[in-house]
Amino acid sequence: MPATVLVGAQWGDEGKGRVADWLAAESDVVARYAGGDNAGHTVAVGEKVYKLHLVPSGILHERVTCVLGNGTVINPVNLINEIEHLIAEGVNVTPERLVISTKAHIITPAHIALDRASEKARGKDAIGTTLRGIGPAYLDKTGRKGIRAGQMASVEDFANSLYASIEEANVTLERQGIERLDPQATALAYIEAAERLKPYLRDTSVYINRRLKEGARVLCEGAQGTLLDVDHGDYPYVTSSSPTAGGALTGLGFGPCHVDRVVGVAKGFSTRVGGGPMPTELTGELADRLRGTGEHFWDEFGTTTGRPRRCGWLDAVVLRYAAQVSGFTELVLTKLDVLSGFEELKIAVAYRIDGRETEFPPSTMGELERAEPVYETLPGWSMDISGIRNAADLPEAARVYIERVAQMCETPVRTVSVGPERDQLVFC
Ligand code: GDP
Ligand code: IMO
Ligand code: MG
Repeated sequence: MPATVLVGAQWGDEGKGRVADWLAAESDVVARYAGGDNAGHTVAVGEKVYKLHLVPSGILHERVTCVLGNGTVINPVNLINEIEHLIAEGVNVTPERLVISTKAHIITPAHIALDRASEKARGKDAIGTTLRGIGPAYLDKTGRKGIRAGQMASVEDFANSLYASIEEANVTLERQGIERLDPQATALAYIEAAERLKPYLRDTSVYINRRLKEGARVLCEGAQGTLLDVDHGDYPYVTSSSPTAGGALTGLGFGPCHVDRVVGVAKGFSTRVGGGPMPTELTGELADRLRGTGEHFWDEFGTTTGRPRRCGWLDAVVLRYAAQVSGFTELVLTKLDVLSGFEELKIAVAYRIDGRETEFPPSTMGELERAEPVYETLPGWSMDISGIRNAADLPEAARVYIERVAQMCETPVRTVSVGPERDQLVFC
């Protein structure tokens, strides 16, 4: 059986966790292929709201085996905390249900300190990272001096590599006038966590390929989003991994022939957390309405950092590009319920840069900063749509909005989410 790749079409937080939870119900394996605990994936199941950072959303489906692929970066302490939290909630997270690639890379306390230091040094140009040590961990990986998860199998080897990582970071920290880390004290919790993660380790590429051969359906759960991709995003305001569909192949180690479905997830409007360009960003009352006050768990405040998310109109320039980069076969549009009550809605159909119109995002930061959205205005709808389950029952204006999105990015919108709960889906 083939594989499905799930990709965020915007700047992250599109509702991937919620969509992954839906697709996991018909999957045997759910695998994260990129990023680390910078991700925050929310899944609402009845009274419970799960906020997953590293553990794939498939963990909430008993028959699914979850995988953390070689493309991910793992903070062992935070992973153990997350596993413990899930177990306390009654979720089964044994090594039969979660396998961790021996080739995934480890986030050390040094990486976290370096992330903080790097952001401080950037000053007003800070990326606005999640301060989880993601960038420095990938930097060590590509610099060929990272620590692989497989090293956790030998405590001594792991501890020595950890001390070395901390000592090396101390040189940089001291140069910036930042306090040194104490290698022994800082590493202790990591060593303890590593000991506990040993039973979860495996060559996950071999595992996934075997399961695919046996006929399993694999769901690759993307983290972050297309515009945060280190290659395809708004560089340098990006994360340090490959959240787009190509990243699923390298981040899990199987061939493209297995992929028969690429699901793009887009929110019905735009949000971004952290720095970097966002041409359709709104301020004032409209932004506040899209963001919400924080009284609902789905309001636009970061799942990982709690930061208020920047909000704006839907950007079809971004969606069109995302659909192309990953080859979306379909699109899921989330949070359409939040758009109820707006008299009119705008969608950016192009950018005007230096007097010229473009349908795709420019690749230089200077052009992006000068980009002005060219809007198409559509009528809004007043009706609460959160209880609707059939496309035919959606107000005409909502159906027009969905259809225009599909046309603009040349991808069918097959599913619309009208609320965070499992059953709040409309199939088009
Ligand atoms: P992810 O990182 O892409 O998984 O998204 P997040 O979980 O960070 O943020 C999406 C938020 O929107 C979460 O709180 C979800 O529960 C919520 N959500 C997802 N789909 C819908 C929807 O259709 N309507 C509403 N109101 N909330 C939604
Ligand atoms: P999910 O999976 C939204 C953003 C950060 C920052 C940039 C780099 O929940 O959609 P990093 O810590 O990765 O070095 O930060 O990327 N970012 C996210 N924004 N959702 C995410 O994940 C994000 N993961 C990273 O805010 O702008
Ligand atoms: Mg999120």
